[in-house]
Amino acid sequence: MTTRKSELYRNLAAQLGALLAGERDPIANAANMAALIYHGLPDLNWAGFYFRQDGELVLGPFQGKPACVRIPHGKGVCGKAAARAATVLVPDVHQFPGHIACDPVSRSELVVPLIEDGAVTGVLDLDSPLVGRFDEIDQAGCEQLVAVFVEHHRPHPR
Ligand code: SME
Repeated sequence: MTTRKSELYRNLAAQLGALLAGERDPIANAANMAALIYHGLPDLNWAGFYFRQDGELVLGPFQGKPACVRIPHGKGVCGKAAARAATVLVPDVHQFPGHIACDPVSRSELVVPLIEDGAVTGVLDLDSPLVGRFDEIDQAGCEQLVAVFVEHHRPHPR
């Protein structure tokens, strides 16, 4: 199971690299990445991005039901991950004080910050209707996917 799951993430990272190749528009790439993840990983009810704007997080491309548009600094799981500049894995959102319930069906959540040149520029957020859906393999796998995304948007050296 563990090997299969790691392999799934390796395949997704390869597919993502191919999807983003030759395209540098972050919105287009975030949209394709959200679709790849949502349809490629089992048991998700939401997968998408929030981007940092004037200190708050603003909804970006996603797959799933409509979601809250703005998340203030440090609020919710997304705001925590952005404020800490570190991944936050929540096995049961009912046990996470301050969780923002966009969809009451969500029971566990994984949020990976996008860190570009040392600054948090947004987050990748995955939600699942299952308690305990995400583990350390999902965390490492999603951090790898985010690394592919971020690396892709590095400015060209002059
Ligand atoms: N649950 C998130 C809010 C975003 S939605 O899940 C799409 C949070 O607590 O930050």
